[in-house]
Amino acid sequence: MIGKDLNLAKSLLERGKLVAIPTETVYGLAANAFDEKAVSEIFRVKNRPSFDPLIVHVGRWEQVFDFVKEIPEQAQKLASLFMPGPLTLVLTKTERLPDIVTAGSPQVAVRIPNHPLTQELLHSIGFPLAAPSANPFGYISPTTAQHVADQLEDQVPYILDGGPCTVGIESTIIGFEDGAPTVYRKGGLTIESIESVIGPVAIKTYNYDHPLAPGMLQSHYAPKIPLKIGQLPELLSDFNPNRIGLLVFRRPLAGIPEKQQVVLSKNGDFAEAARNLFAGLRYLDGLDLDLILAEPVPEMGLGRAINDRLKRAAAVEG
Ligand code: TXA
Ligand code: MG
Repeated sequence: MIGKDLNLAKSLLERGKLVAIPTETVYGLAANAFDEKAVSEIFRVKNRPSFDPLIVHVGRWEQVFDFVKEIPEQAQKLASLFMPGPLTLVLTKTERLPDIVTAGSPQVAVRIPNHPLTQELLHSIGFPLAAPSANPFGYISPTTAQHVADQLEDQVPYILDGGPCTVGIESTIIGFEDGAPTVYRKGGLTIESIESVIGPVAIKTYNYDHPLAPGMLQSHYAPKIPLKIGQLPELLSDFNPNRIGLLVFRRPLAGIPEKQQVVLSKNGDFAEAARNLFAGLRYLDGLDLDLILAEPVPEMGLGRAINDRLKRAAAVEG
């Protein structure tokens, strides 16, 4: 069921049930982070491997001290400037938080979502919410309540509808390895913004040998039909124009039916492009086509996170 009933969402969560929640990045599939059984339900419904840790959401910064210790100065600085917002900090957890949430890691990923409805919900309950993106594992993340319903309606008792996500791409994840700030996932907060505050950061977003963050897994955020990235006019010549979908940055291409094309942002605005990215992929995935072709956007600002998602959506194995 989709709706805006905060009391219902609250009472379901208090009873150990799952609720899909809106955030500014993507919709999350939430449960009481202190309730091991409720959290195990998230893994079941998402079909998520148990080695893939969850992000814990709180309403305000002070709440992290309920389950986190040793906050590095740089983390504190980023939190004061960018939270609430599309930023996730990886910190050291205390025993209060069940190991299932972090897949056994001593580190927990923490975020304060910037969405009025979810803020109100978080302030009205007495516990943090563990929530991954509300999609079946490996598929495109949901940016509307309807996206969640399309795939998980039968399995989630309630979907709290907060409208379309305003950022549209997941949070940027940053940890502190022996004091060195390290980005594990590019996301809605740009690396440029982070570096303007704490100086240069390392970027470790993909590692075959040790997929620390499964957002790091190569194949992720993927449509059902294959996706290929490249410079479009050249790429196009190999395919039947009636059987392909195009994801373009600014301008549609001549020779391909318009309804098979998604323009991310006519003005070349990265924020708008990020907002349209996942809905655009879902739309093309829903047409009866053989393949999606996507062109990369300029590799700067939010463009870096957009290109990262496109690459993972294009990867065939992880
Ligand atoms: O914007 C977001 O972050 C959204 C909304 C719902 O908050 N959430 C989200 O969750 O994208 P999920 O589960 O789809 O992606 C979380 C990523 C995963 O790649 C996971 O591996 C990583 O965060 N992660 C979680 N805990 C971690 C930890 N302790 N250390 C390193 N990575 C962690
Ligand atoms: Mg996800």
